[in-house]
Amino acid sequence: MNILIVGGGGREHALAWKIAQSPLVSSLLCAPGNPGIEAHAECVDIGVGETDRLIALAKERDINLVVIGPENPLADGIVDAFEAAGIQAFGPSKAAAQIEASKAFAKEIMQRANIPTAAYAAFDDPVEAIAYVREQGAPIVVKADGLAAGKGVTVAATVEEAVMAIESAMQGHAFGDAGARVVIEECLVGEEASILAFSDGSTVRPMASAQDHKPALDGDQGPNTGGMGAYSPAPVVTDAMLEEIQRTILEPCVDTMAASGTPYKGILYAGLIITEAGPKVIEFNCRFGDPEAQVVLPRLQSDIVPILLSCCDGSLAMCDLSWSAKACVTVVMASPGYPADYPKGLPIALDAPLRDIDNGGLLFHAGTARKGGQLVTNGGRVLTVTAMGETIPAATKNAYDAVGKVHFEGAHFRTDIARKALQHLA
Ligand code: AMP
Ligand code: GLY
Repeated sequence: MNILIVGGGGREHALAWKIAQSPLVSSLLCAPGNPGIEAHAECVDIGVGETDRLIALAKERDINLVVIGPENPLADGIVDAFEAAGIQAFGPSKAAAQIEASKAFAKEIMQRANIPTAAYAAFDDPVEAIAYVREQGAPIVVKADGLAAGKGVTVAATVEEAVMAIESAMQGHAFGDAGARVVIEECLVGEEASILAFSDGSTVRPMASAQDHKPALDGDQGPNTGGMGAYSPAPVVTDAMLEEIQRTILEPCVDTMAASGTPYKGILYAGLIITEAGPKVIEFNCRFGDPEAQVVLPRLQSDIVPILLSCCDGSLAMCDLSWSAKACVTVVMASPGYPADYPKGLPIALDAPLRDIDNGGLLFHAGTARKGGQLVTNGGRVLTVTAMGETIPAATKNAYDAVGKVHFEGAHFRTDIARKALQHLA
């Protein structure tokens, strides 16, 4: 069959790498793709927001399945548009993607489904929001309702900080329309974990657990980023806890979405804080995590294509979903200055080709470009350097060994990826 992936970051590189291994695939396209994805797919220079051109490409190339990577096109209704054109697409409908695109919508679903989450209130009026924060006290969390590229959340240590976050979102329009409404939440304490799951609208099945590292600097210091590294499995999530997450979070979410007339198909990503009272949801996302995809997909032993198809046609319960016992770690190499302003076009040099994921590393390209034959930096997160190993410490060593073979000026990466896992293993 012919498959088209929409997107061009590290997550889509991992998806392309995994999908290309399927014997079911006769041709694989990616729009817009990136220089790393070119090793697995034909890249076509069409942006993720150019729905009409993507549909025209899919028709011209007889595409049987479209796999959408990022949240923005999903929230804009790209799956509905492909389906209206008679082309099968993997991902939630516009209505279902609201689970990520509107935090207030997600909270309503969680309330209806009785899913453990932080206590909250949603506000359209800054005066009421500020009054609520003064009444609740700090620490407290302020979230822009809409999509804000991971930047719409402030964990405020003081009431004044929370008030400033409300003013900047609602009156300063720091996140455009996304901040016209805010959700104010109880501050949860505990380690974070990401559970990604496949869903076909009625059956939901979790993937192997993972943990992201959002802050830019070692020791979880510095500003939040899209994610500086990840590992899988996350030992903070025990097998018993994964069953609890399935029973108290994933199944109630998918059941309630179906009962509400917005059946959820695609990837359901639960961002969790493991509190003393058990796992609680801090957000749902409507797509694979980035960089979580880079550590979860290499551990998936089953062919991913039948799984993606089963999510579209409702047969997920019958699918083979098996996971490698090995661990996987990815370290993000970012541009100097990220997540603030950073230069582009810095030449990237590799000491050795990093081809084999079991012996060394796998380079998933996130923000790279080719300029006159030279690989250069072209984004904040440049490369996600990934490796497997028998254990988390072994995979971590392999990933950092691979990082040592990649060079560009001012390359910034955290040196403590997966360190939290060691506390649980000790
Ligand atoms: P998000 O963009 O929703 O993933 O949130 C960004 C970060 O804010 C998360 O990774 C958490 O570290 C933190 N966060 C979000 N919600 C809460 C909460 N209710 N309590 C504590 N921390 C939170
Ligand atoms: N790694 C966080 C995200 O994909 O939202």
